[in-house]
Parts: sequence; structure tokens; C-alpha cells
Amino acid sequence: MPKNIIILTTGGTITGHKTAGLSSTYESAKLSFDEVFSPALKKLASKILNINIKITNILNIGSQDMNNQHLLKLAKQVQQASKQNDGVVIIHGTDSIEESAYFLNLVLKTSANIVLTGSMHTKDSLVFDGVANIYGALIVASSQNAKNLGVLAVFDNKIYSARQLYKTHSRSLGAFSGQIGMVVDNKAIFYFQSSKDHTLNTPFDIAQINKLAKVDVIYICADFNEKLYDFSQSDAVILCAMGNANLPKNALKTLSKLKILKVRTSRTNAVDISKDGEIDDEKFDFIRANDLAASKARILLMCALSQTKNAEIIQGFFDRF
Ligand code: DGL
Repeated sequence: MPKNIIILTTGGTITGHKTAGLSSTYESAKLSFDEVFSPALKKLASKILNINIKITNILNIGSQDMNNQHLLKLAKQVQQASKQNDGVVIIHGTDSIEESAYFLNLVLKTSANIVLTGSMHTKDSLVFDGVANIYGALIVASSQNAKNLGVLAVFDNKIYSARQLYKTHSRSLGAFSGQIGMVVDNKAIFYFQSSKDHTLNTPFDIAQINKLAKVDVIYICADFNEKLYDFSQSDAVILCAMGNANLPKNALKTLSKLKILKVRTSRTNAVDISKDGEIDDEKFDFIRANDLAASKARILLMCALSQTKNAEIIQGFFDRF
């Protein structure tokens, strides 16, 4: 029996278009999805993979423009689509895909396969990677092997866990970290899986979330001047700080007086915030983001704030998700 797979599109480079000849300058989200993944390609993929493919266009934006309203709309439409399909492929820009993928990983209540993809190059580039990525995502979305692994992403035949996915290169085809498997000979092969709870095993439910808290991120360098920041519009803040998430003493003193929830994480790639570092979290009322980088810590904190403002419970969420 052919699997039913729906493709939900939101834009990104994959529907981008070069603005001038051989120049690499382009604009995202300028083409229709049909101009990228033609009806003929859709028919070919359906035949080779023995799947039924439907396509619904949700947005056509660069993912750097994906705001909380877009994110809620996307998640609610993915939830709805997952009720009538075995798998959902989401076409998404790569700039903020690590955030959208993790949000979906936390709030979707479904056992359907959810797979994001996009492209690093435009269709009019000699190295356009979009069609191969769509094909790879369709394979994973229709694979029994992908069941119950949480939300996934596929680029360049590599399969990534939404929990570990980060964009780590601005131009390369292999621009991501967090790989847990591969697409090989039209099959999804997995070597690892995330140890963190997701989808059906979280208390966050997109059906119950209609607004997301305003969580801002500040990046902290040496000689940081905390007086430049106005947190009056923020419900909470992620402090993306140095090394083991350390802050200059003046900033520590000022920021610890903020009457909003404060989560500290590290700007290093090998992120893991230890409790016994140079900062007494209890004294300064900080929550630790553990191994989550700032982009994902913000997503989890928004989900957490949909449930509670209790710092101890939220620290428990950071330890669990
Ligand atoms: N405008 C960026 C985005 O939509 C380009 C990155 C991409 O899609 O590869 O995320």
C-alpha cells in the first residue's frame, strides 16, 4: 500500500532566484515550488518510491524572516497534515531551520515521520541541491526506519536529528551538524538516535499553544556593555556567553537584577554548561541551557514559558529536552 506523504512549503533558497547572470547574488523565495519540483519530478518520485505525494504551499519567505506567528502557523498545519498522512516533508530555509525543527520536535503530537529539507544553492546554480534533498526527504518521510526518532532533517543524503541539528557553515553543501543517519540506495539508514524526549513524550502541545513568549538572545563578548540593552519588551533572555557561559562581573551584577527569567548558555560550539563553574546559578537565579546553543535554548524556553514561569521546573525541562 503506497504511503501518503505531504510536502508543506515555506520558501528559502530552494525557491530562490539569482538576480544577475553568473553572479552568486540571489533572492530567497522568488519562485513557486512547482518551478523547483515540477509535476513531472513529483510523478517520477511517486513512481520510484511507491508513494502518493501531495503539496501544500504555506509560506514563501526566507527563513531569516520566520517569526513566532509563522512558526505557530507552520506547527499547527504540520500537526493537521500529520493526521491524514504517513509522513510530512517541510521545505524550509536553512538559516533558521535548527529553530523550527526543534520547535516541531517539542510541540507536535504525532507518530508520523516529520522531515525538513531545503537547499544551499538556487535552482539556477550549477550545483543546485534542492531536488536531491527533496527526494532524500521523501525517502525518510516514507521510511519505517524513521519511526519514533523525533523530527528529522535531510541534506546532501545525510539525516539529522532536530534536537542536534545546527547550521555550521554559511555556504557549504554539508552545512550542518547533528547527523544520525544516511540515505543510501533509496533507504533511510540510522546509526544513532537522540536520547532526549520529543513529540508524543513532551508536555508541550501545539494545540494548546497560541502565543509564544518574547525571548531575546544577547551575545556576550569581552568588554560587554549591558547598559546598551533594553529588556522592557522581553519575557525572558538567553545569555550567549563566553566559555562555560561566563559573563564580565559588571554584566553579571546588572543582569542578575533583571526581573525576567535568565538562561545562560555558551557561545562555544562544544556547548555544555556545568553547574560547578565560575557562576553560582542559585545566587544569580540563572537557568542553565546545558548543551543547547542559544538558537535552540530560546525555542525550549518559549515552550517552557507556555507551561510555567517556575525556574526550577524550567531547569528540569532543560535537563530533559
Ligand atoms: N535566505 C536564507 C533562508 O531562507 C537562505 C538559506 C537557505 O535557504 O539555504 O534560510
